[in-house]
Amino acid sequence: MKGSISRRDFLILTAKGAGAAVVSYGLMGCATDDDDDNQTNNSIRFNHGIASGDPLMDAIILWTRITPSSDGEITVSWEIAIDQAFTQLVNTGNTTTSAARDYTIKVDAIGLSASTTYYYRFICNGTTSSIGTTKTLPDGSPDSVKLAVLSCANYPAGFFNVYNLAAQQDDLDAVLHLGDYIYEYGRGEYGSDNAETLDRQVLPATEIFSLSDYRTRYAQYHSDPDLQLLHSKVPFITVWDDHEVADDTWSDGAGNHNEGEGSFEDRKLAALQAYFEWLPIRPWSEGNYAEIYRQFSFGDLVDLYMLDTRVLAREKQLDYADYFDGSVLFDEATFNQDLYETERTMLGTEQLQWLKDSVSVNNGRWQLLGQQVLMGEMKLPGAVALNAMSTTDYAELGPLSLLAGRIKAGDPTITADEQTYYEANADKLTADSLSLLSFPELPYNLDAWDGYATERDKILALFNDASKNLVVVAGDTHNAWANELSNSDDKIVGVEFATASISSPGLEYYLSISDDAIESTEDVFVSLIEGLKYSNAKDRGFLTLTFTQEKVESQWHYVDTILSSEYAELTDRLKVATSHADEPGLTFS
Ligand SMILES: [Fe+2]
Repeated sequence: MKGSISRRDFLILTAKGAGAAVVSYGLMGCATDDDDDNQTNNSIRFNHGIASGDPLMDAIILWTRITPSSDGEITVSWEIAIDQAFTQLVNTGNTTTSAARDYTIKVDAIGLSASTTYYYRFICNGTTSSIGTTKTLPDGSPDSVKLAVLSCANYPAGFFNVYNLAAQQDDLDAVLHLGDYIYEYGRGEYGSDNAETLDRQVLPATEIFSLSDYRTRYAQYHSDPDLQLLHSKVPFITVWDDHEVADDTWSDGAGNHNEGEGSFEDRKLAALQAYFEWLPIRPWSEGNYAEIYRQFSFGDLVDLYMLDTRVLAREKQLDYADYFDGSVLFDEATFNQDLYETERTMLGTEQLQWLKDSVSVNNGRWQLLGQQVLMGEMKLPGAVALNAMSTTDYAELGPLSLLAGRIKAGDPTITADEQTYYEANADKLTADSLSLLSFPELPYNLDAWDGYATERDKILALFNDASKNLVVVAGDTHNAWANELSNSDDKIVGVEFATASISSPGLEYYLSISDDAIESTEDVFVSLIEGLKYSNAKDRGFLTLTFTQEKVESQWHYVDTILSSEYAELTDRLKVATSHADEPGLTFS
């Protein structure tokens, strides 16, 4: 029965809040009466925190990991109650764990009531875990739904103050984690400039490839007190991005994987198994580590679709280097032919069909896509997109070249000041800079939806045709953005809110933007990119989404540092964007 359930059946069951009854069968261990002496003598600790996830109206995943003093199968009890003293238990049970699943424990606690706060804990060999708080999904018509959206936690880059700040929000219904929950690199690699000083060098010390490596890395991340704190307070709904496997992962490879590093397939399987062991995510079926796309409904207010744009079916990213002929000439025609190829995909046929089927039967006031990469079109002048010219230089040379064109054409409106300015700066327009300025506008990031533009058009058309209120959330870039999403007829059909990273370096690092130039650079981005309405190019943070019948609000929160565990919220960088139902578009306060 469990193995024969179809995806469509699962969708329907889950939408009704009945899915847990199906998938929990394989997850819940049975009580055993034959605990051996080994277990009795095996003292254990809960070093890696507790967590809950994938809430439904009547079920929720509970997670922990034990650290035993000796190997062997161990029975762990769990309890879920409506009071913190655990006098009013709602469900309880025993499950077993062992080295085969890295001593992680995952149970699907069923029999719960909608929109209810619960307390849970684990007990093993006389040791009791800390107590976690969690919450089931609402049914009916909730007044509001509030979600936190986070992504990109790089342990060696700094303290997880952003997890701590998110944990101070006491009215969250759930946390959406959009991936890069871990990073795969070894010591001294990406994001490690301050790791030694901060005593946050990665474990294991080298890049991770094997199941053992990935497990060790997850264990280190789960030793972090701020990560543990947020997990203990709010249920997570997670998807992976690329760094849970390797940088720029696609279905059959990754930018950060080469043949000398062994089989990519083996690496991917190890990475995904460790993810399912260490995250409170509900599998389609026990042992299925391949599929993470799934749906959650918050009453009739929000239908949330968590997507896998990364591992399941993504075609390989295009590379600008393949479209240069050895000089500065860019083969725009071939590039566009490849970019707009009709079947080019990130989701794959099956997942896209699942999304279409789901949207057609769901009537939530808001339709929310929780996914990894930016959907908004981020076309920049080619020189900037290719990182051949800084935004500051472009901001000067772009207008200067236009002025040169007007003067050359004999424009009678040229003022004396313009003539003087041109003559003083004309030598900056070198042959090379003029060549760069002549480049067409190009997508800034081919790893994002911009590299899969035809499939993006299909999704925007899907929601527009269905007259649904579309909201997209994204991570991946490490910086915060807000976009108005337009279809091929230039009609705004949805909005996108992208979160800053928890600790991973962003554009300020990649482009070496000085503190003095940050705000002007953000202004340049917003002025150059048509659909982009907000940008934060520097700060680490997260966002909250608050949905009501009338509107959705995105509020971005930032911390002042990740280089000390002492931090403050950057209140002068707080930003709120609003979009109203049935009239998509962004206003700010
Ligand atoms: Fe990231």
